[in-house]
Amino acid sequence: MALRQILEFPDPRLRKIASPVTVFDGNLENLIGDMFETMYEAKGIGLAATQINVHERLLVIDLSEEKDQPMVLINPKVSILEDELSEHDEGCLSVPGYYETVSRPRRIRVSAQEKTGQSFEMEAEGLLSTCIQHEIDHLDGKLFVDYISALKRQRIRQKLEKERKMSA
Ligand code: NI
Repeated sequence: MALRQILEFPDPRLRKIASPVTVFDGNLENLIGDMFETMYEAKGIGLAATQINVHERLLVIDLSEEKDQPMVLINPKVSILEDELSEHDEGCLSVPGYYETVSRPRRIRVSAQEKTGQSFEMEAEGLLSTCIQHEIDHLDGKLFVDYISALKRQRIRQKLEKERKMSA
């Protein structure tokens, strides 16, 4: 396994639309391993392949304190079960250091595939629902900062660019 570099906003590669995963083999398994290692190292709870510049539809999540409940969703599709929204303060490894409140459907059903290609369905609510929707957004080239005002987004962008220049 290897740590991968995480792309940061406003990197244009974060705007690419990912393609479906069609081959379920050892390379995919290695990629999943790298994604978990990269996510755990960065202290994240979710990571989409897009964020490490791999434009395929897969994401990893682990919401547990002990980091022992890894979840892999390949080619995930969401349907909304309730109109009700819930708000969470969202952060993102691609927008380090910034948190903003975002409203998303509270309860969803997800169909996806496992690393073997096996299909499964699950329901999610609360933080898990938010997290899955946030990660699927990455696969569609979207970021949580797209949900906040343009002014705030611009401010975050400028600060991140400045920090990057200072550390370069
Ligand atoms: Ni994110």
